[in-house]
Amino acid sequence: MKSCIIYSSVTGNTRKVAEALAAASGAPCFPVREAPDPDDYDLLALGFWVRLGQADARTQGYMRRVLGKKVFFFGTLGAWPDSPHARRCAEGARALLEEGGNTVLDGFLCQGRVDPKILEISRQKGRHPMTPERRARLEEAARHPDTADLAEAGRRWQRCLAD
Ligand SMILES: Cc1cc2nc3c(=O)[nH]c(=O)nc-3n(C[C@H](O)[C@H](O)[C@H](O)COP(=O)(O)O)c2cc1C
Repeated sequence: MKSCIIYSSVTGNTRKVAEALAAASGAPCFPVREAPDPDDYDLLALGFWVRLGQADARTQGYMRRVLGKKVFFFGTLGAWPDSPHARRCAEGARALLEEGGNTVLDGFLCQGRVDPKILEISRQKGRHPMTPERRARLEEAARHPDTADLAEAGRRWQRCLAD
């Protein structure tokens, strides 16, 4: 089975996960801007960063071109990975992939450090008050993806490859 890894990443978090999948499997890994034709592969790992509650637009665009394939999706976000917000992000990605007749074998989300420049802009605009809960979440996000996240993502991807 021919497989590859495609990802989008602005600040490097999702790229780290993509590179861990590549290291775990030897599958080729491409940033989405240089992504190959999905029809050249049977199984694709598709990685996104979460923007405004969804997979980033570039990855969504690529996902729409993936039709009738086996897929593993992965993503990074600032929110807790077991939160309703994260679940909605994962469900959105799964639904988009299933619309294309793909078989989603698994999906994996973990936290990723939120760019301090973005946090500063948000602070200036007074958008999200810095509550103790939010501070704790952002402090934890800043430690991810960590080695446990990378190992878990690699393990899940390898299980898809063995399917
Ligand atoms: C413009 C922008 C919007 C974001 N929106 C969300 C969001 O809706 N939910 C969330 O949990 N994280 C959000 N984040 C945090 C990113 O998803 C997170 O930091 C991610 O790990 C970035 O991935 P990257 O380093 O691969 O670019 C946002 C970040 C930016 C810059």
